[in-house]
Amino acid sequence: MVKIELKNVNKRFGSDVTVLKDVNLNIKDGEFMVLVGPSGCGKSTCLNLIAGLEFVSTGKIIFGDADVTYLSPKERKVAMVFQSYALYPHMTVRDNMSFSLKLEGVDSDIINNRVKKAAELLGIPNLLDRKPKELSGGQRQRVALGRCIVRNPTAFLFDEPLSNLDAKLRIQMRGEIIKLQRQLGVTLIYVTHDQVEAMSMADRIAILYDTKFQQIGTPTEVYNTPRNKFVASFIGSPQMNFFDASLGNGGITFGDQSFSLSQENINKIKQANKDDLILGIRPEHINISPERRSEAFEIEITVIEFLGADTMITFKFEDEMTGMATSPGYYNGKIGDKAYISFKENDIHIFDKDTEINIIHHPID
Ligand SMILES: Nc1ncnc2c1ncn2[C@@H]1O[C@H](COP(=O)(O)OP(=O)(O)OP(=O)(O)O)[C@@H](O)[C@H]1O
Ligand SMILES: [Mg+2]
Repeated sequence: MVKIELKNVNKRFGSDVTVLKDVNLNIKDGEFMVLVGPSGCGKSTCLNLIAGLEFVSTGKIIFGDADVTYLSPKERKVAMVFQSYALYPHMTVRDNMSFSLKLEGVDSDIINNRVKKAAELLGIPNLLDRKPKELSGGQRQRVALGRCIVRNPTAFLFDEPLSNLDAKLRIQMRGEIIKLQRQLGVTLIYVTHDQVEAMSMADRIAILYDTKFQQIGTPTEVYNTPRNKFVASFIGSPQMNFFDASLGNGGITFGDQSFSLSQENINKIKQANKDDLILGIRPEHINISPERRSEAFEIEITVIEFLGADTMITFKFEDEMTGMATSPGYYNGKIGDKAYISFKENDIHIFDKDTEINIIHHPID
């Protein structure tokens, strides 16, 4: 188990594809770090650099105190799990799990012992004599995990390992991977494009986009204090609402609406000295009700989606402004109804429209 560092890493493919530009990342010993970002942002490339399957253009990769920048995957002793489990189809589960240790010339008693222990940990001791085709998707995924565990690696590197599984199994395996990582105390780097997976599994999340880590923080930090509009839109589902806004008299103005702000927030906005702002508010922080209350403004309901635990309500106001609110439980209303929405100052975010930086909530680094 080691801490892993990326120091000023640049990665280019040829002369025109820059995937990572001067990125830094410090993963603590025993940490569960999730790399998340949209398709094509460079998550797999980043993981492959850590594994030694790709090499940096410039910069360093450090494991513990050792510079591993130019070491092979074997020398780094990491274990990877991919989206396709890549099990050997003609080998039994036992042989799949033992294979890499046999290649290393490990004593067969030690191998048998490790395979037995890993199989027990994963709840698959009864499957050791089956072949991969005789297993379900979840069971195959467990064998792929077992293959990692037996090697006592320095770190686990997972690249979207659950995306081939159905939704229910994904949630179950998510729980199992978290439990396993805690039990083994292993440093784990987990790549996904699914922000729910990231939020539910990570000690810390690193959000990769546009060649940079946009923010690195705990799930609560990236949710409560997104550094910029990209992070705010990427983390949280349904996504945060954004309205063009500007500083008005005693508060913020968006469309014909105004929302009063504390002097502290007004000062922060004045200090930023920008005319064009974006007001951000998460759907779950909007209170929607058929009754008018003070500080609420009128909207028209355009879509109602009842999901069971809550209802998602799409609304419009002033012709072209649209937004979404989540209301707990069942919302008793219909399309075309007028309703009133309100929210708390503490829940809003204000971004500079130009740089997209969050002006009022700053993450701690
Ligand atoms: N060997 C390569 N040569 C040239 N370009 C590459 C190579 N490998 C990856 N890329 C490019 O680098 C960028 C990042 O790719 P990468 O596979 O790391 O993305 P990703 O975030 O893992 O995406 P996904 O979520 O779709 O798996 C992409 O634009 C991709 O086309
Ligand atoms: Mg990928």
